[in-house]
Amino acid sequence: MALLVNAGLVSADIKPYISTQADYNTECKTCPRSLCPNQLYYAGEEAFNVTCWTRGTKIMGDTLWLKSEAGCYVTQYDVLEYPGDYTTNLDYCGPESEEQDLTVEDATLKYKTECRICPEISCDTVAYLKENTDVELTCWYPEGQVIIDDPYWLKTTNNCYVAQKNLYSKPDITYLDPCGPIPFLEIELHHNANGTSDVNKRAPAPVPATLGTQYLINVTVGEEYAYCRSCPKESCSSKKRYEFNQEIWLQCLTLSNDTWWSETTDFCYVKDSDLWQSPSGDYYNNPLCEKFEGGAPDPDEDGRRR
Ligand SMILES: *[C@@H]1O[C@H](CO)[C@@H](O)[C@H](O)[C@H]1NC(C)=O
Ligand SMILES: *[C@@H]1O[C@H](CO)[C@@H](O)[C@H](O)[C@H]1NC(C)=O
Ligand SMILES: *[C@@H]1O[C@H](CO)[C@@H](O)[C@H](O)[C@H]1NC(C)=O
Ligand SMILES: *[C@@H]1O[C@H](CO)[C@@H](O)[C@H](O)[C@H]1NC(C)=O
Repeated sequence: MALLVNAGLVSADIKPYISTQADYNTECKTCPRSLCPNQLYYAGEEAFNVTCWTRGTKIMGDTLWLKSEAGCYVTQYDVLEYPGDYTTNLDYCGPESEEQDLTVEDATLKYKTECRICPEISCDTVAYLKENTDVELTCWYPEGQVIIDDPYWLKTTNNCYVAQKNLYSKPDITYLDPCGPIPFLEIELHHNANGTSDVNKRAPAPVPATLGTQYLINVTVGEEYAYCRSCPKESCSSKKRYEFNQEIWLQCLTLSNDTWWSETTDFCYVKDSDLWQSPSGDYYNNPLCEKFEGGAPDPDEDGRRR
């Protein structure tokens, strides 16, 4: 008798949906995993209904994800706190909802690359990856910040985005999923767990992009000749000689004996005073070369951050 009454109560508690809202920009994914592509995103305070619960990537100690009425999944960590228990008030979405179906393709970085939480240079840097770092790509995004002439960015299994321009070759994206729409994200709000992520963040916090700034940076030589040296010192051997008004692309900045130098895509260093532009100036937001010396963090699916 008691059991029957209980069963009746439990099923009476199941609701067809629960109304909620996003605490901040949050991605609604095709599967309940950090690396899954986005179907859409909800902006901060946007209201939506969730219809069932499932399990996915552990976010701040919690594996619970919710399926929105739109048919995609959000981590419950990103929505309003619910006074009840989703797992008793909503149906389970079913075991197939827990499956992760990722497309993956190997690639290698040609240049020093900032791997960012979203595909714009105003987005936080998650990792500074050196040239020749092997990465695994999971999806592509065609409308990121234009780098030199290329707006494509790729999400890696490190769960951050690299510019296609920084790869040795363009990946064959016919084998990869599109990443879907990507909102502006911040590490502070989309960090996975305390102390588990050695996020190598640039200090101070990244400056919002100014018009025209591009990474890699396209600059022009302002002296009759500019020597590109094996290390950032006048005494280092010259590897290349650039000519007046030649366009060159820069990867990163380094300060040596009070003089700014830039590493070019030929992997040698030019003095910033030999260029028309001032790569160390406020107009640019080029990273310091030393940021890339730490090595790549391990790709870790359920790990460090999402
Ligand atoms: C949630 O679903 C109810 C019932 O269908 C609907 O009236 C309401 O507008 C929905 N809320 C949102 C934010 O879509
Ligand atoms: C993270 O650290 C903060 C401050 O130490 C603490 O208040 C919070 O509970 C921690 N969160 C988790 C999930 O451990
Ligand atoms: C590089 O910059 C020059 C002038 O600033 C511009 O004319 C040229 O088109 C640029 N090249 C690329 C590949 O963006
Ligand atoms: C540093 O720069 C000054 C002035 O340009 C120069 O005289 C000096 O020799 C340099 N020192 C080193 C260690 O390169």
